Amino acid sequence: MVFAPKIPVILEDPKDFEFTLSELRQYDGIKNPSIYVAIRGVVFDVTKKKDVYGPGGSYAVFAGKDGSKGLGKSSLDPENAVPETEDLDESELRVLDDWFSYFSQRYNIMGKIVPEIEPEAKI
Ligand code: HEM
Repeated sequence: MVFAPKIPVILEDPKDFEFTLSELRQYDGIKNPSIYVAIRGVVFDVTKKKDVYGPGGSYAVFAGKDGSKGLGKSSLDPENAVPETEDLDESELRVLDDWFSYFSQRYNIMGKIVPEIEPEAKI
């Protein structure tokens, strides 16, 4: 399979915790020793790659963030480490899909991103 790790990674069953983007920011390897990275709202646990995503790591810009835009645009600019993908073109969306596939085959899913403010419950 394309993007499959050379040595298959045994993954746990996906968890279904909910994180707002500001809650996710805690998981940057500093405030919280765990490091989570979200792609298209799906939160992956990348703690085992602390050298890469932790403080000073090459891809630390994505730690504690949904960096879908930057992943699609192959950009490490912190301004692009945001979830919005509206201005990605077709080929950038394909790149983003490839990253989703890459992460899905390597990292455990912790849950998903939910809106910052809970909508008022309808009576
Ligand atoms: C000079 C440019 C770059 C070089 C030489 C480079 C090199 C690499 C290498 C060697 C890997 C490891 C691949 C593997 O483990 O199979 C990697 C992974 C990765 N690269 Fe780059 N890269 C570059 C630019 C970028 C840019 C601009 C981005 C922005 C999106 C990026 C995002 C990533 C990500 C997210 C990973 C996966 C890390 C992981 O979870 O293992 N890279 N890169």
